[in-house]
Amino acid sequence: NQSINRMANHYRLLIRNASQLVVIQRSAARFKRCSEMNEVEIIENGSMIIGDDGNIVAVGTTDELKEIISDGIFFDELDATGKTIIPGLCDAHTHAVWSGDRVEEFAMKLAGATYMDIHKMGGGIGFTVRHTRESTEKELLELFLKRLELMGRNGTTLVETKSGYGLEFDTELKMLKVIHNATNKSKVDIVSTYLGAHSIPKDSTVKKATLDIVENQIPRLQKLKESGEISPEFIDVFCEKGVFEADDTRKILQAGKEAGFAINFHGDELHYTGAAELGAELDAVAISHLEWVSDKGISAMAEKDVIAVLLPTTAYILRIEPPPARKLIDNGVPVALGSDFNPNAHCLSMPFVMNLACVTMKMTLNEALNAATINAAASMNRSSTHGSLEVGKCGDFLVLNAPRWEHLVYQLVNPPIECVYKNGILID
Ligand code: NIG
Ligand code: FE
Repeated sequence: NQSINRMANHYRLLIRNASQLVVIQRSAARFKRCSEMNEVEIIENGSMIIGDDGNIVAVGTTDELKEIISDGIFFDELDATGKTIIPGLCDAHTHAVWSGDRVEEFAMKLAGATYMDIHKMGGGIGFTVRHTRESTEKELLELFLKRLELMGRNGTTLVETKSGYGLEFDTELKMLKVIHNATNKSKVDIVSTYLGAHSIPKDSTVKKATLDIVENQIPRLQKLKESGEISPEFIDVFCEKGVFEADDTRKILQAGKEAGFAINFHGDELHYTGAAELGAELDAVAISHLEWVSDKGISAMAEKDVIAVLLPTTAYILRIEPPPARKLIDNGVPVALGSDFNPNAHCLSMPFVMNLACVTMKMTLNEALNAATINAAASMNRSSTHGSLEVGKCGDFLVLNAPRWEHLVYQLVNPPIECVYKNGILID
């Protein structure tokens, strides 16, 4: 009994005297919307305690925590005087498993080629599909783990990533296995998404591809998920004119939903396709892109709490109109951010994404931070564990060598991330 009591005051980590301890919220809310998105909870001279299980035990001003601090025994201590603590960043949308870079297409795009020009020439997704099919699971895993390490270094502690460069069962499965097997090897937490409907396979048609996904791929993947070989939680579709249009998207998402997947898909990116309205109708958790979302789509998303995952790198790199972030926020849609890391938009830095969100999409700094933490976590169904520094959530945080958090976004190229902790353990 005495030994249990003794253990009760043992903790993994004490962080004390942070100039700013940015906790994001104290409400335990799933996400923020409207004017809440412009509010960020900050504790001045803050302290935080992480328990032996890696979760947050206490958070408050150093003064509020003084008893537990003086009674506690800490495996590790961090004096954060003059520094800022913020939650680990959450990246809501990436395509991080692939091989074969597309640096040559970058030059073509700079010379004026559009995304669809390159796609139709067999480049773009088609190029990456050819390379990814040829790579072994081991090669893909190594590439993916390197990218995850870089993400961690840039402050990301939770990331969503997708299959989608296979377009046939075997390669889609190979990608989902890579994601699954990276889970134990990576310090960053991963949420897995099945994106069999990323493009129409060469020599196939949209009808055939849809049928194959609905009748062949989804049922087989569901079985492999049940047996614990893979772990996709979400189903995604590239809902786009000339790719999977609304009718086929509906069939695929509905089949995915019936098989137990949550919905999080690409919509209204290059053209208006009614994706926002469709997503709201199908109870999607999130819809990504939304450059061309309609007013009706915005109302439908707000009504059904569908999260808009905005990807400012896409509009930047493709020189297209960015999504209407202001209109989405002002009309009650919870907005999250993602890097969209892929061979087209080769960016895995969430601080840079936040900077782009502010400059190109007119979001405020506070909105960008909420979008890259609690709202991004919500888009991955992880807001009960990630996205804010609240008791019971995981002890994932960044130490910024700056007196206030805005330096993360303001210092454009080398943000002052001094170190990154995952579950109260230093990972970078
Ligand atoms: O989110 N638009 C479709 N998918 C990606 C691009 C993937 C690729 O070009 O390889 C996107 O922009
Ligand atoms: Fe994408």
